[in-house]
Amino acid sequence: NQFHAHRIVVGVVILKRAFSSSAANATKVAVLGAAGGIGQPLSLLLKHNESISHLALYDIVNAPGVAADLSHINTHSKVTGYSPDNDGLKHAVTDATIIVIPAGVPRKPGMTRDDLFNTNAGIVKDLATAAAQYAPKAFMAVISNPVNSTSMIQKVTTLDVVRSSRFVSELKGTDPKNENILVVGGHSGVTIIPLISQSGAKFTDDELKALTHRIQFGGDEVVKAKAGTGSATLSMAFSASRFTNSLLRALNGENGVVEPAYVRSPLFESKGVEYFASNVELSREGVGKIHDLGPLSQYEKDLLEAALPELKKNIAKGVDFVHKQ
Ligand code: NAI
Repeated sequence: NQFHAHRIVVGVVILKRAFSSSAANATKVAVLGAAGGIGQPLSLLLKHNESISHLALYDIVNAPGVAADLSHINTHSKVTGYSPDNDGLKHAVTDATIIVIPAGVPRKPGMTRDDLFNTNAGIVKDLATAAAQYAPKAFMAVISNPVNSTSMIQKVTTLDVVRSSRFVSELKGTDPKNENILVVGGHSGVTIIPLISQSGAKFTDDELKALTHRIQFGGDEVVKAKAGTGSATLSMAFSASRFTNSLLRALNGENGVVEPAYVRSPLFESKGVEYFASNVELSREGVGKIHDLGPLSQYEKDLLEAALPELKKNIAKGVDFVHKQ
């Protein structure tokens, strides 16, 4: 099977297929699930991205409306909207360079990301299958949860990193732009491993525990505050937009573009964990060099030990789903 299921650490998964360098010039980006809580602000941010020439929006409801609205914004890109009628999905993804997928059902209070598996895995499968058929050269970034299980070849951990940098800057009174906290592992609960020691920031043990917990369960904070109306949408849209832009820069030939991503990875393969999020150099091929984790404190080594068995379970669930299809 061409899809290898697994899950993400922070938020986006990229499914890489062969990329031809010519695609970098006419840059079409398709957003599937574009009328949703993440899809709309993400599409708005992408409309501001000057390297995108065509933004194609698809949803089972209301994508033409969102597209009409965005198309009045005075940036260069063309915006088109599609519903399932008249082969809308096919037209949305054909010739896309990048396909971003925020389609799916979000969490309600009390739900884990894993509770979403059955519904969202089916949605992602259908969309990924159409993408494979009509846009075999496109890169795919999957946001739909549970990322650890619905993602295929690569996923990105941008939201966890965005959150960590903000939370650390709040504690230290610094500019979040200068706080670069690497988060590795996966994208749910204990599989989210923030490597705070590498930032050089000094915290007491209690502070470190509280901060780690907040990063691991930052998504729950939003789900609770939204009280049944949804999960993180705006911070996720920001993160997915940043990731898409980084990927576009790399596809256009820029070197040294590094984003954390959940990818098929050799780092913990010997322990039976085939997918793992770490810093990844993006390239014209999508995923380039996978960086190792760097020095870990004892506390972080313990977090890693706790994360690996959970990740293994999440990955197995995604792989099983794919094999049963
Ligand atoms: P939402 O319910 O507001 O929007 C989802 C959109 O997907 C809706 O417009 C719906 O019509 C559309 N949709 C459903 N089935 C579809 C299909 N087959 N084809 C095309 N579109 C379809 O949900 P929201 O808040 O935008 O979240 C979307 C997903 O992102 C959820 O699975 C959520 O758990 C996940 N998420 C992931 C995060 C991450 O860090 N990876 C962070 C936050 C949310």
